[in-house]
Amino acid sequence: MQIIPSFNFASIPNIIFGPGKIAELYHIIPRFGNNILFVTGTRSIKNSGKWDNIISEIEERGFNFWNVSVNHEPSPQLIDEVATKFRNKNIDLVVGIGGGSVTDAGKAISAMLPKNDSIKNYLEGIGSKLHDGQKIPYIAIPTTSGTGSEATKNAVISEIGPNGFKKSLRHDKLVPDYAIIDPEFMLSCPPTITAACGMDAFTQLLEAYVSSKANAMTDSLAYSGMQHIKDAIIPACSTSALDINVRTNMAYGSLMSGITLANAGLGIVHGLASPIGGYFNIPHGIVCGTLLAQSTKQNIHKLEELGSQGKNFLQKYAKVGALLYNEESINEKDIMKQCSKLITILEKWTGDLKIPRLGTYGLSENDIDKIIEGTALKNNPVVLKKSEIKHIVLSRL
Ligand SMILES: [Fe+2]
Repeated sequence: MQIIPSFNFASIPNIIFGPGKIAELYHIIPRFGNNILFVTGTRSIKNSGKWDNIISEIEERGFNFWNVSVNHEPSPQLIDEVATKFRNKNIDLVVGIGGGSVTDAGKAISAMLPKNDSIKNYLEGIGSKLHDGQKIPYIAIPTTSGTGSEATKNAVISEIGPNGFKKSLRHDKLVPDYAIIDPEFMLSCPPTITAACGMDAFTQLLEAYVSSKANAMTDSLAYSGMQHIKDAIIPACSTSALDINVRTNMAYGSLMSGITLANAGLGIVHGLASPIGGYFNIPHGIVCGTLLAQSTKQNIHKLEELGSQGKNFLQKYAKVGALLYNEESINEKDIMKQCSKLITILEKWTGDLKIPRLGTYGLSENDIDKIIEGTALKNNPVVLKKSEIKHIVLSRL
């Protein structure tokens, strides 16, 4: 019998999942009030015609609403400006509809509306204050399958530049009240964004699965997420972009990635993504997607060196390798073979999905030491030396 080590599991949103489920939004709103602040992206939701539908439903029901648009990863300045503008408008509910930047922005705005203060004072590693979790109720409606922000308790806020950062506003109570995941909203997501977001979601699932903080519950959810993404990620970016079943599988995987990362933590890929995303204007999904295969290779190599100490994690990597190759179970003697298969398929996805290298965005060898200084190992399954982390980045320049 397997022993289940003790664990904690934080709260998750009320989840409403499936094609057409947006219709439930209009029944939920009156539970919170009449004044709604919508936070949306600038393009895709509006081009798809879905925004017009939402607005006509909202107007028909007589709700008061305001709309702010977010066209990049949210900065402290953006959050402060919006919170200041709407602080005295008696907002009852914030609804974020968009990609990870938008759903994070909505989460941060809902948390800062009750505070007469700048968000910078509450960011991890930047400010000195702790957020108390008090917020205006928040509903997250993702239009991409990527960050899993609809299920997490943190909002990532970026200031990009030579002294830039990418840091979180975090509190258990900042988990959205509702997450409405309607895959119909993802049908219009273009292939490049679908690819980067899909690689981010898979990275989050794999990093949570092999995390030093993983538990029995996060393991099942992460495995299930990977199971649904594996056959959908390539079709979602090519031949089957308009197939609702494919989009539903991606949306499910992304949701699982948010739940598992919030409870099991992440590894070296996301450890590197924070400083890289702070110093360079590179989409988060591209950073993760481009580093995933090489980081996995490095982790596996280091775990192998550890011998029996690394065995549990190698078994997990092997299990994912078997999953991606549709092989039923892992064979003890084939663990390293299955681990190699995992690396091979991750490299293939990176190539097939045309995930760019970091050098495309101006990152050069001279930047690496500064990046390594700001890199945390997070819950990586194995401790990596600075030289090993450097090797990961160098190989993806
Ligand atoms: Fe991520």
